Amino acid sequence: MKKTTQMITLVFSIVTLSLLIVSQTVYAHGKEKHASKNQKGDITYSRDIKPMFENKCSKCHGAKSPVHMEFIKDVKKYKNDKKGPRMNTYSHLVSFAIWPDAGSLMRALDDGSFTKNKKPGKMFKHLGKSNQERQQNLKLFKNWVGNWTLKEWADTTKDDINSMKLAY
Ligand code: HEC
Repeated sequence: MKKTTQMITLVFSIVTLSLLIVSQTVYAHGKEKHASKNQKGDITYSRDIKPMFENKCSKCHGAKSPVHMEFIKDVKKYKNDKKGPRMNTYSHLVSFAIWPDAGSLMRALDDGSFTKNKKPGKMFKHLGKSNQERQQNLKLFKNWVGNWTLKEWADTTKDDINSMKLAY
Protein backbone atom coordinates (compact mmCIF):
# COMPACT_ATOMS: atom_id res chain seq x y z
CA MET A 1 0.00 0.00 0.00
CA LYS A 2 2.74 2.44 0.98
CA LYS A 3 4.61 1.64 -2.24
CA THR A 4 1.54 2.39 -4.36
CA THR A 5 1.12 5.80 -2.70
CA GLN A 6 4.79 6.55 -3.34
CA MET A 7 4.39 5.55 -7.00
CA ILE A 8 1.34 7.78 -7.44
CA THR A 9 3.14 10.72 -5.81
CA LEU A 10 6.15 10.20 -8.06
CA VAL A 11 4.11 9.99 -11.27
CA PHE A 12 2.08 13.01 -10.21
CA SER A 13 5.23 15.06 -9.53
CA ILE A 14 6.73 14.15 -12.90
CA VAL A 15 3.56 15.13 -14.75
CA THR A 16 3.29 18.45 -12.87
CA LEU A 17 6.93 19.25 -13.48
CA SER A 18 6.67 18.51 -17.21
CA LEU A 19 3.57 20.68 -17.56
CA LEU A 20 5.37 23.50 -15.80
CA ILE A 21 8.36 23.26 -18.13
CA VAL A 22 6.18 23.13 -21.25
CA SER A 23 4.10 26.13 -20.17
CA GLN A 24 7.20 28.18 -19.35
CA THR A 25 8.69 27.41 -22.76
CA VAL A 26 5.48 28.39 -24.58
CA TYR A 27 5.25 31.59 -22.54
CA ALA A 28 8.86 32.56 -23.22
CA HIS A 29 8.47 31.79 -26.92
CA GLY A 30 5.34 33.94 -27.13
CA LYS A 31 7.08 36.84 -25.44
CA GLU A 32 10.03 36.56 -27.77
CA LYS A 33 7.80 36.56 -30.85
CA HIS A 34 5.98 39.64 -29.62
CA ALA A 35 9.19 41.54 -28.86
CA SER A 36 10.74 40.83 -32.24
CA LYS A 37 7.52 41.89 -33.98
CA ASN A 38 7.64 45.29 -32.29
CA GLN A 39 11.29 45.75 -33.09
CA LYS A 40 11.27 44.78 -36.74
CA GLY A 41 7.80 44.17 -38.13
CA ASP A 42 5.73 47.14 -37.04
CA ILE A 43 5.89 50.24 -39.18
CA THR A 44 6.16 53.42 -37.15
CA TYR A 45 5.52 57.03 -38.08
CA SER A 46 8.81 58.33 -36.73
CA ARG A 47 11.04 55.69 -38.31
CA ASP A 48 9.32 54.78 -41.59
CA ILE A 49 6.58 57.21 -42.60
CA LYS A 50 8.05 60.61 -41.66
CA PRO A 51 11.21 60.36 -43.80
CA MET A 52 9.26 59.08 -46.79
CA PHE A 53 6.61 61.76 -46.31
CA GLU A 54 9.28 64.46 -46.22
CA ASN A 55 10.74 63.08 -49.40
CA LYS A 56 7.54 62.58 -51.39
CA CYS A 57 4.77 64.71 -49.93
CA SER A 58 5.98 67.64 -47.85
CA LYS A 59 6.65 70.08 -50.69
CA CYS A 60 2.84 70.30 -51.00
CA HIS A 61 1.74 69.18 -47.52
CA GLY A 62 4.51 70.67 -45.36
CA ALA A 63 4.85 73.53 -42.89
CA LYS A 64 3.95 76.16 -45.51
CA SER A 65 0.62 74.51 -46.27
CA PRO A 66 -2.58 75.60 -44.55
CA VAL A 67 -4.34 73.32 -42.04
CA HIS A 68 -7.25 71.47 -43.62
CA MET A 69 -10.03 73.72 -42.30
CA GLU A 70 -8.17 76.71 -43.74
CA PHE A 71 -7.49 74.87 -47.00
CA ILE A 72 -11.16 74.15 -47.67
CA LYS A 73 -11.99 77.85 -47.41
CA ASP A 74 -10.13 78.48 -50.68
CA VAL A 75 -9.28 75.19 -52.38
CA LYS A 76 -8.82 76.83 -55.78
CA LYS A 77 -6.22 79.31 -54.65
CA TYR A 78 -4.19 76.71 -52.74
CA LYS A 79 -4.36 74.24 -55.60
CA ASN A 80 -3.04 76.92 -57.95
CA ASP A 81 -0.14 77.39 -55.54
CA LYS A 82 0.41 73.60 -55.61
CA LYS A 83 -0.46 73.38 -51.94
CA GLY A 84 -2.56 70.69 -50.29
CA PRO A 85 -3.61 70.62 -46.65
CA ARG A 86 -0.83 70.41 -44.03
CA MET A 87 0.03 66.84 -42.95
CA ASN A 88 3.59 67.22 -41.74
CA THR A 89 3.14 65.99 -38.15
CA TYR A 90 1.85 62.72 -36.70
CA SER A 91 -1.37 64.37 -35.45
CA HIS A 92 -2.08 66.12 -38.74
CA LEU A 93 -1.52 62.96 -40.75
CA VAL A 94 -3.61 60.73 -38.48
CA SER A 95 -6.54 63.14 -38.85
CA PHE A 96 -6.64 62.10 -42.54
CA ALA A 97 -6.88 58.42 -41.59
CA ILE A 98 -9.38 58.45 -38.71
CA TRP A 99 -11.05 61.77 -37.93
CA PRO A 100 -12.32 64.16 -39.14
CA ASP A 101 -11.22 63.03 -42.63
CA ALA A 102 -11.70 59.30 -42.17
CA GLY A 103 -10.26 57.21 -45.00
CA SER A 104 -9.01 60.27 -46.90
CA LEU A 105 -5.39 59.12 -46.76
CA MET A 106 -6.34 55.65 -47.98
CA ARG A 107 -8.59 56.92 -50.77
CA ALA A 108 -5.86 59.31 -51.92
CA LEU A 109 -3.06 56.72 -51.92
CA ASP A 110 -4.77 53.52 -53.03
CA ASP A 111 -3.53 52.03 -56.32
CA GLY A 112 -7.03 51.21 -57.55
CA SER A 113 -7.35 47.86 -55.78
CA PHE A 114 -9.90 49.22 -53.31
CA THR A 115 -11.26 52.41 -54.86
CA LYS A 116 -14.88 52.39 -56.06
CA ASN A 117 -13.98 53.32 -59.65
CA LYS A 118 -10.94 50.97 -59.64
CA LYS A 119 -8.69 53.92 -60.53
CA PRO A 120 -5.69 54.92 -58.42
CA GLY A 121 -6.31 57.67 -55.87
CA LYS A 122 -5.17 61.23 -56.69
CA MET A 123 -1.96 60.96 -54.65
CA PHE A 124 -0.84 57.48 -55.72
CA LYS A 125 1.41 58.94 -58.42
CA HIS A 126 3.38 60.90 -55.80
CA LEU A 127 4.40 57.73 -53.97
CA GLY A 128 7.35 57.14 -56.27
CA LYS A 129 8.92 57.55 -59.68
CA SER A 130 8.63 53.92 -60.73
CA ASN A 131 5.76 51.54 -60.22
CA GLN A 132 8.00 49.48 -57.98
CA GLU A 133 8.75 52.47 -55.73
CA ARG A 134 5.09 53.46 -55.61
CA GLN A 135 4.09 49.94 -54.59
CA GLN A 136 6.83 49.80 -51.96
CA ASN A 137 5.74 53.05 -50.37
CA LEU A 138 2.08 52.11 -50.63
CA LYS A 139 2.91 48.94 -48.73
CA LEU A 140 4.56 51.01 -46.00
CA PHE A 141 1.46 53.18 -45.64
CA LYS A 142 -0.79 50.10 -45.68
CA ASN A 143 1.18 48.38 -42.94
CA TRP A 144 1.32 51.55 -40.91
CA VAL A 145 -2.45 52.11 -41.08
CA GLY A 146 -3.13 48.41 -40.42
CA ASN A 147 -6.76 48.47 -41.53
CA TRP A 148 -6.84 49.81 -45.10
CA THR A 149 -10.47 50.94 -45.09
CA LEU A 150 -11.50 53.62 -47.59
CA LYS A 151 -14.73 54.36 -45.72
CA GLU A 152 -15.93 57.87 -44.99
CA TRP A 153 -16.45 58.84 -41.33
CA ALA A 154 -20.22 58.18 -41.52
CA ASP A 155 -19.58 54.51 -42.42
CA THR A 156 -16.60 53.99 -40.10
CA THR A 157 -17.28 51.60 -37.21
CA LYS A 158 -15.59 51.33 -33.83
CA ASP A 159 -14.10 48.02 -35.02
CA ASP A 160 -12.58 49.80 -38.04
CA ILE A 161 -10.89 52.26 -35.70
CA ASN A 162 -9.80 49.62 -33.20
CA SER A 163 -8.04 47.64 -35.89
CA MET A 164 -5.98 50.58 -37.10
CA LYS A 165 -2.35 50.59 -35.96
CA LEU A 166 -0.90 54.03 -36.76
CA ALA A 167 2.06 53.50 -34.43
CA TYR A 168 4.08 56.57 -33.53
C1 HEC B 1 2.54 68.40 -56.16
C2 HEC B 1 1.87 68.62 -54.90
C3 HEC B 1 1.47 67.41 -54.09
C4 HEC B 1 2.23 66.32 -53.71
C5 HEC B 1 3.67 66.02 -54.05
C6 HEC B 1 1.37 65.48 -52.89
N1 HEC B 1 0.14 66.07 -52.76
FE1 HEC B 1 -1.43 65.34 -51.69
N2 HEC B 1 -2.61 66.87 -52.34
C7 HEC B 1 -2.18 67.93 -53.11
C8 HEC B 1 -3.31 68.82 -53.38
C9 HEC B 1 -3.27 70.10 -54.20
C10 HEC B 1 -4.42 68.22 -52.75
C11 HEC B 1 -5.87 68.70 -52.78
C12 HEC B 1 -6.50 67.98 -53.90
C13 HEC B 1 -7.94 68.25 -54.08
O1 HEC B 1 -8.59 68.77 -53.17
O2 HEC B 1 -8.41 67.91 -55.17
C14 HEC B 1 -3.95 67.00 -52.11
C15 HEC B 1 -4.75 66.14 -51.39
C16 HEC B 1 -4.28 65.09 -50.62
C17 HEC B 1 -5.08 64.30 -49.72
C18 HEC B 1 -6.58 64.45 -49.54
C19 HEC B 1 -6.89 65.53 -48.58
C20 HEC B 1 -8.37 65.80 -48.56
O3 HEC B 1 -9.05 65.26 -47.70
O4 HEC B 1 -8.81 66.56 -49.41
C21 HEC B 1 -4.26 63.40 -49.12
C22 HEC B 1 -4.64 62.39 -48.08
C23 HEC B 1 -2.93 63.62 -49.65
N3 HEC B 1 -2.98 64.65 -50.57
C24 HEC B 1 -1.82 62.91 -49.29
C25 HEC B 1 -0.59 63.02 -49.96
C26 HEC B 1 0.54 62.16 -49.67
C27 HEC B 1 0.57 61.09 -48.60
C28 HEC B 1 1.54 62.52 -50.53
C29 HEC B 1 2.89 61.92 -50.67
C30 HEC B 1 2.93 60.54 -51.07
C31 HEC B 1 1.02 63.62 -51.33
N4 HEC B 1 -0.27 63.88 -50.96
C32 HEC B 1 1.77 64.30 -52.29
C33 HEC B 1 -0.90 68.14 -53.57
C34 HEC B 1 0.15 67.24 -53.47
